Amino acid sequence: MSLQNSYTWVRFPSRPPILMTSQEILEKYLEFYKKRGHKQIPNVSLVPQNDPTLLFVNSGMFPLVPYLSGEPHPLGKRLVNVQRAMRFAEDLNEVGDNIHTVAFHMIGNWSLGDYFKDEQLPWAYEFLVEQMRLDPKKMIATVFMGDKDAPKDEVSIKILQKIFSKYGISAKENERIFARPKKDNWWQRGDSLGELGGPDSEIHYFIGKGNAQGKDPIEHEKEFVEVGNSVFIQYKKTEKGWSELPQKNVDFGGGLERIAMVVQGKTDIFETDNFWPIILKIQELSGKKYKENELTTRAMRILTDHIRASVFLSMDGVAPGNKDQGYVLRRLIRRMVRNGRVLGIEKDISVSLVPIVCKTFSWLYPQLIEKEDDIKKIFSDEEIKFGKTLDKGAREFEKRKIEILNFTGTSDWLKLSEIAFDLYQSLGYPLEIFIQDIREVAPDIDEKEIEKLFNEKFGEHKDQSRSGAEQKFKGGLADQSENTIKYHTATHLLHMALRKVLGDQIVQHGSNITGERLRFDFNHDKKLSKEEIKKVEDLVNKIIEAGIPVNFEILPKEEALKSGAIHAFNEKYPDQVKVYFIGKNIKEAHSKEFCGGPHVKNTSEIGHIEIYKQDKIGENLLRIYAHIKK
Ligand code: ALA
Repeated sequence: MSLQNSYTWVRFPSRPPILMTSQEILEKYLEFYKKRGHKQIPNVSLVPQNDPTLLFVNSGMFPLVPYLSGEPHPLGKRLVNVQRAMRFAEDLNEVGDNIHTVAFHMIGNWSLGDYFKDEQLPWAYEFLVEQMRLDPKKMIATVFMGDKDAPKDEVSIKILQKIFSKYGISAKENERIFARPKKDNWWQRGDSLGELGGPDSEIHYFIGKGNAQGKDPIEHEKEFVEVGNSVFIQYKKTEKGWSELPQKNVDFGGGLERIAMVVQGKTDIFETDNFWPIILKIQELSGKKYKENELTTRAMRILTDHIRASVFLSMDGVAPGNKDQGYVLRRLIRRMVRNGRVLGIEKDISVSLVPIVCKTFSWLYPQLIEKEDDIKKIFSDEEIKFGKTLDKGAREFEKRKIEILNFTGTSDWLKLSEIAFDLYQSLGYPLEIFIQDIREVAPDIDEKEIEKLFNEKFGEHKDQSRSGAEQKFKGGLADQSENTIKYHTATHLLHMALRKVLGDQIVQHGSNITGERLRFDFNHDKKLSKEEIKKVEDLVNKIIEAGIPVNFEILPKEEALKSGAIHAFNEKYPDQVKVYFIGKNIKEAHSKEFCGGPHVKNTSEIGHIEIYKQDKIGENLLRIYAHIKK
């Protein structure tokens, strides 16, 4: 079926109907802001570089943290982009309704100490109403109500009233504009010290029946969809509370998929061009209809969401595994397999869906076409492995059925949770499936209680990697503590030293920094010898001892490349780049790299470095760990 079938004409009494794909929406957005002096920045990998506090890029502002704090950006003070992002609310279980998705695209524009509320708010509405042709009568705005950290956002209220009056709407407080507390109208990425944040003003679009006016969108959550958020980032979290930043920034984020939903006149995000082709394929594979019953709708939404997120992760180099991002991908694939079985699809579910995802998103990610076969192979291996687990678990369940029925008979939820845990530990058999199995033979079980007891047991045994991953789900700031900054500069020195010792073919393939260590991945086919390690350490430590200044210059990309500055493998850079160099000037620098910063001012601040661990993580990929000697 053609894509066109998934759109409807959007009608307004006074305006002509329009038809817009997600691609057109994005193009119009970029064009709108470019006309207003914004430069486009790249859509970067979902896997954060040099930020130990977050597992995934979760908003468009992610790569901009240093610039919001005052580092100059090579492209200037007005930026725009679309950024792939992933967010996990409470749990993956949220996915399955009409609006929640794990992966999404955020369209964003930024002012780095340039324009502020007076421009941002009118532009945001102008784009949505005049370019997207959304109905202003269906829009409700929220603003920050004020507290001990910052005053009520009266300025935004006045601006919003003017905006609405332009569209003939009188916008009174508690009718069209609602002031809300910090939990609703303040944005910050996490809660660590150094975090940036500020009051925000959200645009909620009415998808319910009747009138939007007078409805608080937070209280009538189900009838609204938040389509955009203007954050006024002007504070930094310090030990004493939120203090003013030297510059006032704007960070706007809009959900591309959500905007597509309202522009395309839908109340279900899965019925838009971003998801519908995948649903159609699932209908074909399962022979079931999307709206057949609640179960099929939910299972198809989960499958659609997860395959999309999984393909994006795989595109960004994540492989299924037991740690961090790999663990998440594994969970997503496993949930797909299980939900495929709910629909009667016994095998090859993720594999069959990969091509349709690649095709649907090739307009945004042309690299997907090339990567399709690799992604299929990875998902297929994982699916086969998990299929075996499910089969083994089902056999084990059959064996223990009499025992299990005994416990359901006596409502012994503790014993049942123990069996569930046993199957989970020995075979990896998921609790959810175990509960499904029991329900088939004994429908009256207290599954909440079994789950609670299971989780208590699980809490005792939780493996490190999982708890690590979950902590990171909670988010945090791009860490700019003293230690991480030191490790960042040390990473540049290490990169330089590795190239001196092993050759210029060495390029960074990944890097990750915490307050305790740095980790660096590069192309090399064997572990380093003791002598090589010593040579690398000596080179780095000599420069640290010499107390060399660290500086940057902003250059056109071509010139930066010519300067011999090194850059990460497989990374896209904008036309103007920032080059950090360690030395008196860029020409004679010991190290020069494409990098946003921040860095120490002088290498003497770092302290001696020691490589304490190395792992071969791929055929031609070595991972080393280094820390500052105590
Ligand atoms: N960074 C802001 C958000 O994610 C725009 O809502």
